[in-house]
Amino acid sequence: MSSILSYLRVPFLASSGLAAVASGLLYFKQNEIIYPRNIPAGARTDIPRPAQFGITDYEELMIPTPDGETLSCFFLRANKQHARNVTVLMFHGNAGNIGYRLPIAKILEEDIGCNVLMLQYRGYGLSTGTPNEKGLMIDAQTGLDYIKQRPELKGTRIVLYGQSLGGAVSIALAARNLKEGDISGIILENTFTSIRKLIPSAFPPARYLAPLCHQIWPSEEMLPKVTGIPILFLSGLRDEIVPPSHMAQLYKVCHAKVKVWRELPNGSHNDTVAEPGYFGYISDFITQFVVR
Ligand SMILES: *[C@@H]1O[C@H](CO)[C@@H](O)[C@H](O)[C@H]1NC(C)=O
Ligand SMILES: *[C@@H]1O[C@H](CO)[C@@H](O)[C@H](O)[C@H]1NC(C)=O
Ligand SMILES: *[C@@H]1O[C@H](CO)[C@@H](O)[C@H](O)[C@H]1NC(C)=O
Repeated sequence: MSSILSYLRVPFLASSGLAAVASGLLYFKQNEIIYPRNIPAGARTDIPRPAQFGITDYEELMIPTPDGETLSCFFLRANKQHARNVTVLMFHGNAGNIGYRLPIAKILEEDIGCNVLMLQYRGYGLSTGTPNEKGLMIDAQTGLDYIKQRPELKGTRIVLYGQSLGGAVSIALAARNLKEGDISGIILENTFTSIRKLIPSAFPPARYLAPLCHQIWPSEEMLPKVTGIPILFLSGLRDEIVPPSHMAQLYKVCHAKVKVWRELPNGSHNDTVAEPGYFGYISDFITQFVVR
């Protein structure tokens, strides 16, 4: 009997040892998991360029941050025929680079008539540094300040557009820039309430380790502060990575004077943007609530 007990004790100790190792790994390696900037392979070096998508009126920018990093960005000038005096600041999801999102930016620029600043967070693509929550917030502020000081964009209405992680970046940036007129609209797609609340569904083996997560992105707490800016929620109901209940919860806690809910019934995490109606929702939102 006692030998069985002592035998049983071994795996118990071993597994608690493993848990300690695993939680240590999660603690120190979580930035690699949360910001997989090398996925897919080549994402740091092979950046599709605007010209490859037939975009002609653009600039490739290297924008310095106050803490010494350099952000590689694309600036697309609005198609003159449809120009609407709106500048979209685009915040991407946690994998890949801005080049992969050029087809989206092209529609915003060409069909919807917006200037677009595609900002690549530190550590992504050709931007310097390594990503973390504090750093990404500096990057986001740098992008907003860049638009505000660029003479040709003076007076354009600024719309934040964030997909997935970019939604959390947009919410946090808006909550820190509440001065009337600085930001005129926010578009959120398939974003989460907080990283901790995302862990149980996105990384089930790590669910007991959620309290160790030091990347917070507390959108559910920040969003209620943003009351004066119209917000569009685009929710793919087949999102397999961020459960759609996160978007529904964000909509619920949102106290913005104008909040618009649009769902894409067949949209999964990555392809909601390709669902019918998606860009129509964006265009209508900008026409009705941003340019007025
Ligand atoms: C854009 O907006 C600014 C500020 O509201 C205004 O001064 C300017 O005339 C507008 N430009 C166009 C092309 O509508
Ligand atoms: C969703 O997909 C189904 C099956 O392909 C299709 O019949 C339906 O029309 C789609 N719904 C929307 C809103 O696109
Ligand atoms: C969505 O994109 C992520 C990151 O690129 C990738 O890991 C995942 O496999 C993609 N999912 C689908 C269904 O394509």
